[in-house]
Amino acid sequence: MKAYENISLVKLKVNGETRDVAIRPADTLLRVLREKLGLTAAKPGCENGDCGACTVLINEKPVKSCMKLAVEVDAGAEIITLEGIKNSIIQETFLEEDGFQCGYCTPGFLVNAYALLKEHPDADDKLAKEWLESNICRCTGYEGIRNALKLAQEKLK
Ligand code: FES
Ligand code: FES
Repeated sequence: MKAYENISLVKLKVNGETRDVAIRPADTLLRVLREKLGLTAAKPGCENGDCGACTVLINEKPVKSCMKLAVEVDAGAEIITLEGIKNSIIQETFLEEDGFQCGYCTPGFLVNAYALLKEHPDADDKLAKEWLESNICRCTGYEGIRNALKLAQEKLK
């Protein structure tokens, strides 16, 4: 039927689970995660690649899911959202160090910081700053975020 012409049925592996989903060519991964798979931790902020609130991991690399079409995700790629990294050290230290204020940017920062800790557990201040530059906190809570990251690095040693 014409109405369904542009809809593809795909399988996405999200947080270790393979999910069947119907997507249109223009559906971003962010919209598919939130609206079709019920995973609402990744947030729509700018939806233009600038703020990082929508960050998820694809094969362990941080990706802005608003800038990725769902049809572009390779079959078998491992997508991890904040829901998939519950109870991580970085979440604990964000709480301990007040790494958030309104919290809207927090899921993106947590996912990106989680990736940094995995790839560069000993990242110095310069690397950590550069890594997290892809995320913006409109409440300017950067000091708490930096402190949370440092504390997580100490706890992981
Ligand atoms: S919502 Fe994706 S970068 Fe801002
Ligand atoms: S805590 Fe409000 S935008 Fe970062």
